[in-house]
Amino acid sequence: MIRLGILGSGFGSNMQAILDAIQDGKLEAEIVMVLSDIPHAYILKRAAQAGLPTGLIDCRGLHSKFPEDAQRETADILKQAGVELICLAGFMRLLRPPLLDAFPGRIINIHPSLLPDFPGLDAWAQAVEAGARQSGCTVHYVDTGMDTGPIIAQARVPVHPDDTPGSLHARIQGEEHKIYPAAIAKIAVEINRE
Ligand code: GRF
Repeated sequence: MIRLGILGSGFGSNMQAILDAIQDGKLEAEIVMVLSDIPHAYILKRAAQAGLPTGLIDCRGLHSKFPEDAQRETADILKQAGVELICLAGFMRLLRPPLLDAFPGRIINIHPSLLPDFPGLDAWAQAVEAGARQSGCTVHYVDTGMDTGPIIAQARVPVHPDDTPGSLHARIQGEEHKIYPAAIAKIAVEINRE
C-alpha cells in the first residue's frame, strides 16, 4: 500500500482513473492528498465528492510560475500527509528544487504525447498540426525540465486524417487512464521492496 499525493489544475479524469483502479483492487494505494493551484478546478470537486482530502496551492496570483515558497509549502503539506509518491495529473506549473528535492525520484507525470515528441502545452494539437501519423501518452519521472524526465511507460494511438485536436486528445486520454494507474502500480511494488 503506498500513499499518493495528486496535483492537478484541471478536469481530474486521471485522478479519477487512479481512484477507480484503487477501488477496483487493481492498484494497492491510497490517495491521501489532492492539491490544485486553481480554486475552481474540477479535480478538487471530484476529489471532495470522493471524500478525499484536498487543498489549494497559493501561487500568489502568479499566472504560470510556481513560486519557491509555494513549492516549499506544497512539500510540507504532502510530507505531513505521509505522501510517498506524487502524481502530477494535468498540473500546469513547472516544479523546482524546493519540491523536487523533498521527494527525490518520487514525482511522476503523465503527458499526452510520445515523448520526446511534442513536449509542452496542448501536445495533442501539436501532433495534429505536425501531421503526425501516431501519437500517444507517456508516464515519466519529473525533473526541472518541461516533460524531460526518464520515461516509465508509453502507449500509442493512431492519428486519423480527420482528427481534430479534441478527438485526438479524447483517444489519448483513453490510454492515459489505463497506463497511469498501471505505472503507479509497478512503482508501488518497487517502493514497497525498498
Ligand atoms: C492530460 O491529458 C495529461 O496528459 C495532461 O493534462 C491532461 C489532464 O487531464 N498533462 P485530466 O485533468 O486528468 O482530465
